[in-house]
Amino acid sequence: MSIKIGIVGAGGMTGYHVAGFRRAGADIVALADVSDTAAKRAAAKHSIGRVFGSLQAMLAAMPGLDAVSIIVPNKFHAPLALQALRAGRHVFCEKPPAINAGEVRQLRDAAAKAKRVLMFNFNNRARPESYAMMNYIRGGAVGAINTCQAKWIRRAGIPGFGGWFTTKALSGGGPLIDLLHMMDLGLYFMGYPEPAYMLARTYRDHIDNKAFKGPWGIADVPRGVTDVEAAAHGFVTFKGGQAMSFQVSWAEMVQREEVSVAFQGAKAGGLVRRFFGTDGVDQTAIDACELYTLEHGRMVNRAVTVPADETMGRVRSAENFVRVVEGEEKPLNTPDEALTLMRIVDGAYKSASTRRPVTF
Ligand SMILES: NC(=O)c1ccc[n+]([C@@H]2O[C@H](COP(=O)([O-])OP(=O)(O)OC[C@H]3O[C@@H](n4cnc5c(N)ncnc54)[C@H](O)[C@@H]3O)[C@@H](O)[C@H]2O)c1
Repeated sequence: MSIKIGIVGAGGMTGYHVAGFRRAGADIVALADVSDTAAKRAAAKHSIGRVFGSLQAMLAAMPGLDAVSIIVPNKFHAPLALQALRAGRHVFCEKPPAINAGEVRQLRDAAAKAKRVLMFNFNNRARPESYAMMNYIRGGAVGAINTCQAKWIRRAGIPGFGGWFTTKALSGGGPLIDLLHMMDLGLYFMGYPEPAYMLARTYRDHIDNKAFKGPWGIADVPRGVTDVEAAAHGFVTFKGGQAMSFQVSWAEMVQREEVSVAFQGAKAGGLVRRFFGTDGVDQTAIDACELYTLEHGRMVNRAVTVPADETMGRVRSAENFVRVVEGEEKPLNTPDEALTLMRIVDGAYKSASTRRPVTF
């Protein structure tokens, strides 16, 4: 049986969702976007038969739709996902899961009530490096993980000035909410422990400086808003005794763009890292997947070899969603994990604005 999927949002990520869904054998039957031009262009490019101006119109016209994929600015994730779940559709939603934990709780409860799959695109869990590392962790080679350091840092990576990314009301925030992938991956490796306390600070240096614009050609909006942070630093402790530090930035005086999680386990430490290349896209990236351990009294470093994946797991992640709906695979992420992650993001913004520690 192949499930029928409708996509909402015709932006930069749509092609990855299309490729992953089709690899799992799904039929992509419709695409909706508030921009008729964007919808028609993407539908033609990806050979999708029907085009709509809204999710509502798509649901009304296509009663046979099994699932909806949501790829729109962050503010619209929760309302659209709720609409789809309440209409009995499975939902695959881009990250961040929503703009705050309260919305994620609503989504989790709606999915449970409707008995439908709800998954988010934490595509970095679907990278070959992450699969390999998780095999070591689940196989017992790492032991209990006490500590991890999560980073997504950019020297010049502001995604345009004045558009939805830099407008808090539309995005929920800057890099803390946008680049939350590595915090998610660190928590995933640690078994998603329950947070206890945290401290964080956000910084706005460079947020209006065009020299720090990212290389992806995202248009600036004249007189648009830039009311989000450019960098965030923080530290979270967990009820079981673990700790995680994080650093995320769109603009910060660092050497180069680094996307990494390092952790220290009782039997081995590990690192999953991508250094982005000089071309600003993924082709010249340098990836690492390493383990650090003690064998026969000697310090041993292991480099784990995996196939290169320039999509950073995005295609595989979308494939996993379809296979979960079909009952063929376990979900790479759960609504409860998304809720914990967003409680930490909310906690970080609260700690930064109050300049106080946060207790969960
Ligand atoms: N997983 C990843 O690696 C990754 C990378 C980039 C972006 N994203 C996420 O993907 C989402 C979209 O980002 P993007 O860069 O593709 O954005 P984009 O601005 O390129 O495209 C968004 C599209 O959504 C449409 N849209 C806006 N509101 C809508 C609504 N209510 N109903 C229907 N269509 C609507 C817009 O017209 C636009 O075509 C964001 O949540 C972002 O965080 C994820």
